[in-house]
Amino acid sequence: MSWMEDQLFEKWHGLDCSGFIDRHELETSYSSALAHSRAYQAVTCVAIRELLDEARKTGIVFDHFIDLGSGKGKACFYAAAKYRFRRLIGVEFSAPLVRAAERNIMKFGVDNICFVNADAAGFSLPAGDNLVYLFNPFGEAILLEFLKNNMDKFRRSRSIIAYANDKHRLCLAKAGFVTLFRNQDSQSSLHQYPSH
Ligand SMILES: C[S@@+](CC[C@H](N)C(=O)[O-])C[C@H]1O[C@@H](n2cnc3c(N)ncnc32)[C@H](O)[C@@H]1O
Repeated sequence: MSWMEDQLFEKWHGLDCSGFIDRHELETSYSSALAHSRAYQAVTCVAIRELLDEARKTGIVFDHFIDLGSGKGKACFYAAAKYRFRRLIGVEFSAPLVRAAERNIMKFGVDNICFVNADAAGFSLPAGDNLVYLFNPFGEAILLEFLKNNMDKFRRSRSIIAYANDKHRLCLAKAGFVTLFRNQDSQSSLHQYPSH
């Protein structure tokens, strides 16, 4: 029945997050990142809700929600509709998907969500407490590069990584993150750098 919730959520907000795009068919100018990419598919409401609820239980009031590999924007729209974030940023390396997400913003009608056409490896987190969300967007090489570029921000904040379909979670452990939550059935987890 979970597909019904997804259909209703998208219909209610006038969104189109549909489709599956195999990684070989993704259009991007970030050609070196393409080899590490996974396919486009929108997250389900059930999966994103589990991570957002668990993140909320930490008691941290997050400044920003950051979706690395945001596709057509479903996770940002769900987080904006159901939870409180000052700003929500989607980072997506495929320009046609960013355009689809921007069409969705027009329907959704808020001004605190934006989508950036960039390779997540080089994305610099904003200062503050970020909830950084990933739905298995890419392999280890990109994840490690992103972590390397943002370690300072993780050290100096209470930011958390919320990882759905967490194939490369061991990378996070190797980089010194601790696992705050993991559901083996849904393969979702939360990770934080232990600076506090
Ligand atoms: C499984 S989809 C997730 C979509 C969205 N986050 C959601 O939860 O509905 C993964 C997305 O990551 C994007 N992606 C893959 N590699 C990327 C990279 N290096 N930088 C930014 N986006 C990337 C893909 O184009 C795809 O849209």
